[in-house]
Amino acid sequence: MRARRKLALLALGSVLAGTAEVSAANPEWGWQGMVVSSVGPAAAAGREILIEGGNAIDAAVAAGFAAGVSHQFSSGLGGGGFILAYLGATGEVLALDAREVAPAAAAADMFLDAAGQVDPQASRLGGRAVAVPGLLQGLHELHTLHGRLPWARVVEPARRLCREGVPVGVHHRRMLAFAQPYLSRFPETARIQLADGQLPPLGWKLVQPDLERTLKAIARRGPQVLQRGEIAEAMVKATQAHGGVLTLEDLASYRTRRRTAVRGYYRGLEILSMPPPSSGGIHLVQMLNMLEPFDLAASGMNSSETIHLVAEAMKLAFADRAVHLGDPDFYPVPLAWLTSKSYGLKLARRLEPRPFWRKPPWLWGRPRVLRLERPGTPPPDDGGTTHISVMDAEGNAVALTQTVNTLFGSGITAPGTGIVLNNEMDDFAAAPHAPNAFGLVGQSANAIAPGKRPLSSMTPTIVLRDGRPWLVVGSPMGPMIITTVLQTLINVIDFGMNIQDAVAAPRFHHQWRPDHLLLEPEHPQDVVARLEDWGHPVRVPEFHFGASAAILRDPETGLFWGGADPRRDSAAAGY
Ligand code: GLY
Repeated sequence: MRARRKLALLALGSVLAGTAEVSAANPEWGWQGMVVSSVGPAAAAGREILIEGGNAIDAAVAAGFAAGVSHQFSSGLGGGGFILAYLGATGEVLALDAREVAPAAAAADMFLDAAGQVDPQASRLGGRAVAVPGLLQGLHELHTLHGRLPWARVVEPARRLCREGVPVGVHHRRMLAFAQPYLSRFPETARIQLADGQLPPLGWKLVQPDLERTLKAIARRGPQVLQRGEIAEAMVKATQAHGGVLTLEDLASYRTRRRTAVRGYYRGLEILSMPPPSSGGIHLVQMLNMLEPFDLAASGMNSSETIHLVAEAMKLAFADRAVHLGDPDFYPVPLAWLTSKSYGLKLARRLEPRPFWRKPPWLWGRPRVLRLERPGTPPPDDGGTTHISVMDAEGNAVALTQTVNTLFGSGITAPGTGIVLNNEMDDFAAAPHAPNAFGLVGQSANAIAPGKRPLSSMTPTIVLRDGRPWLVVGSPMGPMIITTVLQTLINVIDFGMNIQDAVAAPRFHHQWRPDHLLLEPEHPQDVVARLEDWGHPVRVPEFHFGASAAILRDPETGLFWGGADPRRDSAAAGY
């Protein structure tokens, strides 16, 4: 392994620019800054703010609002998020937790029926699925701390999108088609998001007067608008009308948390990412630690050998996720151990040798607690999260991932407000070993408790080179967020791809349980066949994985390169 490591370090110098000349698709570029998002109008809103003299923080906040207006199925005021920011002037790193919180009346057994069985529908649709939203507080705190333009100005692009309308794109329409059958249970959501109850045609403009009124109030009065008063009351009333337990006290008592970013090192680069209650940063660093001893550049991008190694690393990380991860205010997450180089090296020894040695993955770790139960499967095309990456010429960088969990969250729109309420309660483990909507399992670390934050996979990440922001990345799509961010990074760092190719390249995913190696359909047949020969239970679903939104700053020229993922209605907007 030592020899391999040396080789990998030698190869590093030639690929670090990440701006390979030979490219399948050219990245967007800009001299002053860059905004990339899986929601196109959000990138445009951020760019507008940069042009007006705002910094990356202003642009991220404006893009966050605009994303929540444009694709309400994926994020918005009724949801939560995580923000990682690097401040160019001071080198400060801010990890802001705007994650939703279980209401005070939540209980560990709230999704169990009389027979003690989990009722998965209850945690996914309707009032009981709703956790206390936090996104608005997070955006406001970020802006208050480090924004430059007035608050009302950064809200303005989103307000305008409500009034002028957002044209429905290809991904947007696909998400509506997927949600349409269950939106009939939520007439207020169907009234706003569909065209007279029908699937709108491409380019149909989604106009949202109720949400515009809400944003105007927020522009004037700030985040208290969702904590008390008529909009807050409407959110509580709608949730309770659908059987939920959210109260005005829950809304009024919501607070963001400032966390300490997870830090790791990979091939001489410093990785900053989100700590618990997200699992994203820990497992990203853990997988990179496992992979560092291997010369991935030599085994080749998306070769069977590389996929084998990386997928095994994914499995080991997700096995740890199921046992050790939860809200750190309630559970002592062993962060230092999980992200240590020594633990990574120990796990790395399990990625080889071939021919493929494999034990059923549910026997890894702790057989006593990790028994196999009904496997879950990831949803066919989850659109309930979005990501925004921003960099500016002052050296600021922001990675913002925001969510309502799955498509249209709980399904509920609070009448008169235009706000779609999340179903983040499903990110808790409703019972030990019971899979959530993403097929993820958990145990006591992620059990439901009042005031607790459900475990997330969101992985807003900033990579430093020589101590300065070099790459910003994140993605939507539940557990595929972590594996998407991982693959974007190794595509640039190990395979020298430019940032557009790195986000667009075919991806794979393994989350330990269910025991499937998922491959996107674009992987060549001989690669699939070889992985199957080695014993991997390969599945090739019809959907694609994640939507990476990434920026790379060329350290020599200072130029920003943006990579927008073609899997969604994404955009990279340089300036
Ligand atoms: N709601 C998806 C996540 O936080 O991972």
